[in-house]
Amino acid sequence: MNEMINTILNRQTIRSYKSGQISDEQLDILMKAAKQAPSGRNGQPCHVRFVQNKEMLVEMNKDFKELVGYDTPAYTRWDVNPVYHNAPTFAVIFAENESYMDSGIMCENIVLAAEGLGLGTCIIASVGALFKENSEAGYKWRREWNIPESYKFQIAIAIGYPDEKPEWKPRFDDRIQVIK
Ligand SMILES: Cc1cc2nc3c(=O)[nH]c(=O)nc-3n(C[C@H](O)[C@H](O)[C@H](O)COP(=O)(O)O)c2cc1C
Repeated sequence: MNEMINTILNRQTIRSYKSGQISDEQLDILMKAAKQAPSGRNGQPCHVRFVQNKEMLVEMNKDFKELVGYDTPAYTRWDVNPVYHNAPTFAVIFAENESYMDSGIMCENIVLAAEGLGLGTCIIASVGALFKENSEAGYKWRREWNIPESYKFQIAIAIGYPDEKPEWKPRFDDRIQVIK
């Protein structure tokens, strides 16, 4: 089967990663894939930061725990941590306005490019609390990453070498139909 189609059909969410960092060449390709994403009227409203600073990721996780509480489902649902699932690279997308369509498309570009490079990813929405506008943590991380305070968090992506082979998640058969 065509390699691109294979990539799309075989992608699965990965929540366990090897500790090794992705290469700079891989990172460069992911950045190009993000940049190349289409956007409405070519407005390019999304700003993405690929965070590879381990201390920063650990601190983000700590901030998130303090915000949502240690024993809430947001935190305990996953074995490791819900912020970046211990992935070595964590991409965070912000946009000037709520540009969910544009950011979703950029996100999928990054995810599929990563899959094509043999990397695993997890799209993460649940860390939104960490980047809430007008909140202490929201100001802090925007400042660290040179993101204007008013920009809205859209979505994040954990990226790294997979350290698991998850079971296939079933899909509903009746959601996609042909009308002739
Ligand atoms: C918009 C969106 C938000 C998601 N948020 C999270 C999240 O916060 N935490 C997480 O572990 N997985 C998250 N996921 C991953 C989904 O749980 C996963 O894609 C879904 O269960 C289907 O599994 P699959 O990707 O392996 O096919 C998110 C996926 C999408 C598309």
